[in-house]
Amino acid sequence: MTGSRRLRVAFVGKGGSGKSTISGSFARLLARRGEPVLALDSDPLPGMPYALGVAIDDGPIPDDVVVEGPEGGPRWVLDPRCDADAVIEQYAATGPDGVKYLQFGNLWGHASTLQRAQHAWSQVVREVDPDRWHLVGDLPGGTRQAMFGWARYADTVCVVVEPTAKSLHAAARLLNLSTATWAPHHLVIVANKVTDPAEIEAIGARLGRPVASGLPLDAALADGDRLGTAPLDVAPNGAFAHGVEALIDHVESLDYPRDMREPS
Ligand SMILES: Nc1ncnc2c1ncn2[C@@H]1O[C@H](COP(=O)(O)OP(=O)(O)OP(=O)(O)O)[C@@H](O)[C@H]1O
Ligand SMILES: [Mg+2]
Repeated sequence: MTGSRRLRVAFVGKGGSGKSTISGSFARLLARRGEPVLALDSDPLPGMPYALGVAIDDGPIPDDVVVEGPEGGPRWVLDPRCDADAVIEQYAATGPDGVKYLQFGNLWGHASTLQRAQHAWSQVVREVDPDRWHLVGDLPGGTRQAMFGWARYADTVCVVVEPTAKSLHAAARLLNLSTATWAPHHLVIVANKVTDPAEIEAIGARLGRPVASGLPLDAALADGDRLGTAPLDVAPNGAFAHGVEALIDHVESLDYPRDMREPS
């Protein structure tokens, strides 16, 4: 059991490193422990729904609960009659294992529509009760999110890195940016698609930090991709799933100042 502490985790890394696959599976396995989990997807080209097993179009916040913001304030805000809890209750999708999934924005309309949904999403994430939900976030690849702090809700940032030169280079830069601009309480290195333990050592040596978790390359996940089936449904007892369980245990075992985590 996780006890009363709520996790606030976000996954960053180079494009294709496995952020969505891991974060979606992390959210589901945490929910299976009987915990309330809110999966936060801030990728406008979302991969998390596939990893969670929710419908791809589920979850955007509809325009009719977003209104123009006050003079001098944000451009768009939630209708004051609709708070963060109500948005989650009404518009977050419920996925397998009971995970609630909130998507960044609705890309079907004009770009201005996306902006409204994104402002509303950000407001929900800022105002959500952190004592109620475990927050598990999937960020888009690249550096923007680290530079502009798209995941300030997270006190733990998992940097996903593949054992490739490019992925390592990206992880090193993300670590620098995250340390300089975010200062999350914990930066956790997650090696993904590992085929040999020596790769984990090499990643640790290159990044100058211990690798907290090494997730194996699991061929079954490629079958899942082709079928559109979530990793935990295509390989429920595979080495990847066990690795993600161990990652949850690791994040739960991290120390935080008491006042950061005690429910009020
Ligand atoms: N441990 C693994 N074993 C095998 N395949 C994996 C593993 N992790 C991820 N993959 C595969 O790698 C590909 C990229 O994964 P994913 O979409 O999760 O990456 P991402 O970092 O979220 O990418 P993007 O930056 O595009 O959002 C997918 O085809 C996924 O199935
Ligand atoms: Mg992704």
